[in-house]
Amino acid sequence: MAKRNGLLVARSRAEAREWRRQAQTQGKRIALVPTMGALHAGHLSLVKLGLERADVVAASIFVNPTQFAAHEDLSTYPRAEDSDLQKLAEAGCTFCYCPTPAEIYPAGDSTRVTVKDLSHLLEGEIRPHFFEGVASVVSRLFLHMGPDIAVFGEKDYQQLLVIRRMVQDLGFGIEIVGGQTTREADGLAMSSRNAYLDKEERARAPGLARVMRETATLLEGGAGIRAAADAAKTEILAAGFTSVDYVEARRADTLAPFGLECAPVGASGRLLVAARMGKTRLIDNVGFVRR
Ligand code: PAF
Repeated sequence: MAKRNGLLVARSRAEAREWRRQAQTQGKRIALVPTMGALHAGHLSLVKLGLERADVVAASIFVNPTQFAAHEDLSTYPRAEDSDLQKLAEAGCTFCYCPTPAEIYPAGDSTRVTVKDLSHLLEGEIRPHFFEGVASVVSRLFLHMGPDIAVFGEKDYQQLLVIRRMVQDLGFGIEIVGGQTTREADGLAMSSRNAYLDKEERARAPGLARVMRETATLLEGGAGIRAAADAAKTEILAAGFTSVDYVEARRADTLAPFGLECAPVGASGRLLVAARMGKTRLIDNVGFVRR
């Protein structure tokens, strides 16, 4: 197996399994941080979380074609393997699985993993292919790498819940850990896609997190869900966004609607937002507890 930038790098499932076998023989508890590369401080905070909970942290870098629709940005998605490996090594990661597409989806591949219900609301309504692609690739990464725990960012909160559901349903026996969203100093949630924003868009983008935080505070105080969401949409547009896909306050554990005018006292909710700034689509979310 090749060593690059201080990391062992596997390109095939056989190499990944061999690494896992050796780590297990040494009695090591393995944490996995799956990524699509173009790493930023948010990813590295997940590596840190993995190091706190396991003996070794492995990452994967794979830009997964099945989670992109034909009109989406698969061909232009930022790729920076060399600097990614450097960042991972500096963060304390010792192994990275960078499979070729054929290792994940062999010729003739026809198997997909679908998490029903949860995959078809919110992000799933706008991107119907997305969560099936995510569940299909993550299940394969789990099978190739066999980690004890896997760490995912809360920035993609619905994805985190979809993976938790899949792991429970399929009995993977892997602990799924959620890492808090890492933000720029002005509040913008870190994302590889922020690189698409031009200078003026970047200056306007923190408006999304600001409106989201203000709306969550109103919901905590008992504001009506529909009225607060409608007002938030208007404010996001006023902050310079081109369009709003959704602003939704849902139950934090299932993403089901509250079905009530306002969240009941003591309930844990999640406010989820998605909006477009020019050609870039940004998503964000924050938790709230009704006082
Ligand atoms: O969150 C991501 O970067 C991707 O959706 C994941 C989990 C690595 C699957 O491709």
